[in-house]
Amino acid sequence: MSGKHFDKAAAGWDQKQRRVELAAKIAAAISSTLPLNKKMAALEYGCGTGLVGLALAPQLATLTAVDTSTGMLEVLAQKIKSDEITNVTPLRLDLLQESLTDRFDLIFCAMTLHHIKEADQLLARFCDLLADGGYLAVADLKTEDGSFHDAEADGVMHHGFNPEELVKTLTKLGLNQVAVQEVHSLTKTNDVGVERAYPIILLTGRKG
Ligand SMILES: C[S@@+](CC[C@H](N)C(=O)[O-])C[C@H]1O[C@@H](n2cnc3c(N)ncnc32)[C@H](O)[C@@H]1O
Repeated sequence: MSGKHFDKAAAGWDQKQRRVELAAKIAAAISSTLPLNKKMAALEYGCGTGLVGLALAPQLATLTAVDTSTGMLEVLAQKIKSDEITNVTPLRLDLLQESLTDRFDLIFCAMTLHHIKEADQLLARFCDLLADGGYLAVADLKTEDGSFHDAEADGVMHHGFNPEELVKTLTKLGLNQVAVQEVHSLTKTNDVGVERAYPIILLTGRKG
């Protein structure tokens, strides 16, 4: 899907119950797997409307919520304003084009990696941005047959990921305690009317 697609989809994004449920599962899995605390400076990449990030923000000191879609960031900014949230800052940024000088105690990324062609490069960028002792959490589709997205969807760069390959990649990048778990099974009726389940995996690791 292109940036424009996400801009257009932003206003209705939270209306799909399966997206809201998936985000809640991912947030709960990150929270129960990693030792989050109120001193942590966190970064979410591909934050969308904040379904995952806003669920975790109360357990963190600060959250920088990054996305390339202005539409998604606008919806998030409205939520921040109406709920008077003080520790979440939306930021429009493409981490493969520009970086940040800050370092983070936690970086998380939900359902976004499959939209990034240079996925390994982005994982390396995440590792660079982690502070010593910082944690990484990446949730995405396990390898699927390409039926997850509708035929007209563009910007889909990977049909999910092989969990063992992701573990190898993070280990090569120098992270410790690298682990992968299945955190949800998303049931969806695909383009040809067939209902099927798509496993969602959570990859975690620690720097230093
Ligand atoms: C499937 S949505 C997931 C949104 C959110 N994480 C959630 O779970 O509800 C993917 C998000 O990644 C963003 N995205 C796509 N390509 C990106 C890129 N290169 N850099 C940053 N964000 C990107 C999109 O704008 C969109 O908000």
